[in-house]
Amino acid sequence: MKFLSAVASLALAATASCTPGHYPTRLPTTTLYGVEVVDTQIVRDAQNVIKNFTPYLHKHSLRTWLLGAAAINANKTLKASVDMELHAVATILHDLGWDMTPNSPWISPDMRFEVDGALGATKFVKNHKDAKNWDPVRLEKVYDGIVMHGSPGLQVGKNLDVQWILKSISFDNPGSRDPAIPEAQYKSVLAGLPADDIGFGTNETWVWLAATKPIATYNTIVEPFGTAFVPGYNAVGHRIFDLINPAK
Ligand SMILES: *[C@@H]1O[C@H](CO)[C@@H](O)[C@H](O)[C@H]1NC(C)=O
Ligand SMILES: *[C@@H]1O[C@H](CO)[C@@H](O)[C@H](O)[C@H]1NC(C)=O
Repeated sequence: MKFLSAVASLALAATASCTPGHYPTRLPTTTLYGVEVVDTQIVRDAQNVIKNFTPYLHKHSLRTWLLGAAAINANKTLKASVDMELHAVATILHDLGWDMTPNSPWISPDMRFEVDGALGATKFVKNHKDAKNWDPVRLEKVYDGIVMHGSPGLQVGKNLDVQWILKSISFDNPGSRDPAIPEAQYKSVLAGLPADDIGFGTNETWVWLAATKPIATYNTIVEPFGTAFVPGYNAVGHRIFDLINPAK
């Protein structure tokens, strides 16, 4: 009897730690800009990946993580349900595809920024020494949360982890102030990582994307930036609209 229940609880423990896409919630934490966040090696290494990004982008990436974590922490049910390490890695790395550093390893010549970000972040996780903790479900959530972030409105029926990656990214849209983020933490994050340059920086990056790889911008949120600001940029003929309404 004793033996059997020991075996049974072992089996239970094994099941708990192997549930696809679900990982221990009791991870080490630290406090950054007033927000309690996961402090594991992979989360530290993700922060190192972006630390030399242009300042607006570095701050934007950190704010999405911290504002998202602050909102999740404020809701016990959510905090117990969301994979906070996955949330950290995906939010911190979500804009690898915006890295304007010359010869950036994250930028492809022809793919959308969301795809560069999603492929870059999953590659980072797969190459990490702790990759064994990341099963295909977890990796796919990183991919989905990042790849969907340039197409607002698609997140509704997704799992909680992907929804919260997307929601956290939207928290840093210029002028947004989601009431789910507690006031004290909103203030401490914005004081430490001011968002005054987010509009200018995003504009500059999207103009750069439209100029350097227009093929990756047609039919996307970047397209109007090319149309408005990049000499010679012409989406006409590349849009789904043009397939349906070919030029006569
Ligand atoms: C906390 O999160 C859960 C799950 O998303 C939600 O149903 C609930 O309304 C939230 N509670 C508050 C107080 O926002
Ligand atoms: C966006 O970039 C274009 C081209 O450089 C510039 O003319 C425009 O003023 C910029 N807008 C913002 C909000 O920075």
